Amino acid sequence: SLQGYQHYMLKEIFEQPESLRNAMRGRFDDENATSVFGGLNLTPQQMRGVRRIILTGCGTSWHSALVGEYLIEQYARLPVSVEYASELRYRNPPIENDTLVFGLTQSGETADTLAALLETKRKGHRTLAICNVIGSSIAQAADGGIYLHAGPEIGVASTKAYTSQCCVLAMLALHLGRLHNLSFEAGQQLISALKQAPGAVQEALHCNEQVRQVAAKYKDASNILYLGRQLNFPTALEGALKLKEISYIHAEGYPAAEMKHGPIALVDAQTPSVFIVPQGSTYEKVIANMEEVKARGGPIIAVASKDDPHVEAIADDVIHLPDVDPLIQPMVNVIPLQLFSYHIALMRGCDVDKPRNLAKSVTVE
Ligand code: F6R
Repeated sequence: SLQGYQHYMLKEIFEQPESLRNAMRGRFDDENATSVFGGLNLTPQQMRGVRRIILTGCGTSWHSALVGEYLIEQYARLPVSVEYASELRYRNPPIENDTLVFGLTQSGETADTLAALLETKRKGHRTLAICNVIGSSIAQAADGGIYLHAGPEIGVASTKAYTSQCCVLAMLALHLGRLHNLSFEAGQQLISALKQAPGAVQEALHCNEQVRQVAAKYKDASNILYLGRQLNFPTALEGALKLKEISYIHAEGYPAAEMKHGPIALVDAQTPSVFIVPQGSTYEKVIANMEEVKARGGPIIAVASKDDPHVEAIADDVIHLPDVDPLIQPMVNVIPLQLFSYHIALMRGCDVDKPRNLAKSVTVE
């Protein structure tokens, strides 16, 4: 039931503190400063023997895979590649024996993802699922995996399943890191960062009313650009996809620095750019990218850390987020983008929970 919310999408956006708690419940081993998963069906020795990881999925799940790539490479120092399931299935890439393949899927029924997993499994690779729906086709086909425990996601646009995927991938990065070169202290720090995620997402949800006002300002745009770097690049892609699918406004996500290699030609007074620019390693560079857009007359909406005078001086609108550890930024920074697409779609009279031409699970290849 909607429990007083106007749409399932809004309800599911607001459920995220709880769904993140459920993704983490019982999965920390504080004594060893690591995370534990019951269903991987791999011994620590087998897990330690993994030398390369492939993450595959479609749509929003593919975006969470990109988040996983950054996190696993950074914390576990294992090479990761991210593949669209529909391409992996037919490209026939060489895959080494010590490669572990993860299929990411909310529904567990996506035909392209299922086909990719069955094909890698047929070739003898160990194939796991990161999935929300218990007992779904992909959960059954995989050799093991990790459930999201996000609860049913009814809105066609994926919201809470996405943040739960980011959460599980962050825990997986911790798990793999602790099998390799991550120290006990570093493991403890990551656990404490992860435990802050539900509270930080709760705080981020306070931006709802402000986001609604910003949405009212830009609801008639025909094109919107989403820009971010490093971990905020997948967030930009996800923000753009959410807007496209439920408001039918054309949107593109880019790594912010790629702007100057072409897309900046699109910038004009009618084309807003959403910059995701929290404090962090590429902060100064993103500020420079914002200046480039501003110099060409493009309106700027910034998603930034609290009290950031730099960003406030440049952007037309600033949405403030809690300043959190990079490990949990993907879960926090996407919140205003989910809300932005929700409010714009609503203002444009779109059917938020059932966007045209889309189905909740795509069971054709
Ligand atoms: C976007 C969306 C789709 C799905 C994609 C994969 O909001 O819902 O892009 O993410 O169809 O679906 P799952 O994760 O069920 O495999």
